Amino acid sequence: MLQRPRRNRKSPAIRALVEETQLIPSQLIQPIFVRQGTAIQEPIKTLPGSFRLSIDKVLAEVETCLKLGISVFDVFPVVAENLKDKQGTYSYHADNFYLDCIAKIKQNFPESCVMTDVALDPYSSDGHDGIYENGKILNDETLPILANMALAQAQAGADIIGPSDMMDGRVGYIRTHLDKHNYQDVSILSYTAKYASAFYGPFRDALDSAPKYGDKKTYQMSYTNAREALREMELDTAEGADMLMVKPALCYLDIIQLLRQNSHLPIVAYNVSGECAMIHFATQAGFLDYERAVCETLLSIKRAGADAIITYFAKDYATWYKQK
Ligand code: PBG
Repeated sequence: MLQRPRRNRKSPAIRALVEETQLIPSQLIQPIFVRQGTAIQEPIKTLPGSFRLSIDKVLAEVETCLKLGISVFDVFPVVAENLKDKQGTYSYHADNFYLDCIAKIKQNFPESCVMTDVALDPYSSDGHDGIYENGKILNDETLPILANMALAQAQAGADIIGPSDMMDGRVGYIRTHLDKHNYQDVSILSYTAKYASAFYGPFRDALDSAPKYGDKKTYQMSYTNAREALREMELDTAEGADMLMVKPALCYLDIIQLLRQNSHLPIVAYNVSGECAMIHFATQAGFLDYERAVCETLLSIKRAGADAIITYFAKDYATWYKQK
């Protein structure tokens, strides 16, 4: 036998030498759920390991993550029901706690990078990402609200705007609005290929943002489609997106690879709440080794072609990475 592939696996040193994929904490984005109040760290039943945090606790969490080498945070608001309306107007209110949280993170940790979420659903009494009227989503009427929201976030100090709403034309609309107000330096990480997925369940529990009627299939993509992701990629690129996202990650590793091979922009994958919950609950049931399952999962996303990963495992991964 001339060829013996096992020779390249014979010791930890050789295995490390020929490792094709590596994942370092600076390539991870930590999601954070912020709510009103003080000294609150509220567990989320369907998403073990994640919490709804009041702003003081968010600041402590950011500090911990920064020490572990994670510098980018994707912040989501948990909005009280009485602040929601059909147009999601609370999203750009001057006294909005979410905007306050963004500002406080940037004031306390200027070296951090704050990414936001742009969509109506956390603020919408209908639980949809766009304006909902008589069973329909009003695409073009939603765009100015998204642009107001993005501008308010930029004014609060956000570094990266993350439109997750999947309305047509929103990247260009937001880009133009930001530029008109002199926020040329604020980036857009577009949710380019966002699929209508069963794996968002725990996130919607965390935010209490599930649609009150219908589903999101007229704006989020069908899991049957790959070419359509290329179409969205071309549009978002032409509209000025700085980075492209594929979401969820695990059922869509092929889409990550497809976009990586067809775009020059950085590709970010969102390892979503349901994907994280599966590993937590299997671990709790005694079926999986948590650390090994998480590392294999995250490395598979990287290997598929993601440049960066948004994941609820970020802090745990960075902790293990530091101990290695
Ligand atoms: C809202 C939004 C969702 C997620 C991120 N932004 C949920 C949805 O579209 O219903 C899901 C993230 C996750 O499941 O971790 N537009």
